[in-house]
Amino acid sequence: KREGNIMSINVNGSTAELPTDARVSLLDFLRDHLQLYGSKKGCDQGACGACTVLVDGERILSCLALAVQCDGRKITTVEGLADGNALHALQQAFIDHDGFQCGYCTPGQICSAIGMAKEAKRGVPSSVSADLAADVTLTREELQERMSGNLCRCGAHNGIIDAIRETMAAEMAE
Ligand code: FES
Ligand code: FES
Repeated sequence: KREGNIMSINVNGSTAELPTDARVSLLDFLRDHLQLYGSKKGCDQGACGACTVLVDGERILSCLALAVQCDGRKITTVEGLADGNALHALQQAFIDHDGFQCGYCTPGQICSAIGMAKEAKRGVPSSVSADLAADVTLTREELQERMSGNLCRCGAHNGIIDAIRETMAAEMAE
């Protein structure tokens, strides 16, 4: 939302003024300007997914976006998912299924999975979808492909996929 010449975005329900320096990435803005350290900088070049956040509900790599590009948009980071002390169902499922070890990739995995489910719901196919026009069934193979942009160097991928499958069980009949 633009107020006069001030550019602003909404982050987890709060309005924040965007930086005047147009070179600041969305990731650096979140971490260094707003002290929201949940979104991680793994590679800073679009290769690892650790910086994934939701912009108007769509998953993006915040290291590859400029903060000023998000003028007027609504950003959700991992800090914005819980309801008070009640974790988001997917956060709880990551705990239940040992979906992490060091936790560095986890915020990006969780934001990515939420955006991924939305894409699947509106029928966006992946490269392993046999029928591009069919409704998406989130099988394990589909989930592995759709989450392949989020790397976990601890190798917790099986737990991550289990957590996502359980949380979105209704959509994931194999
Ligand atoms: Fe953005 Fe790795 S830090 S993809
Ligand atoms: Fe360590 Fe994924 S839990 S990188």
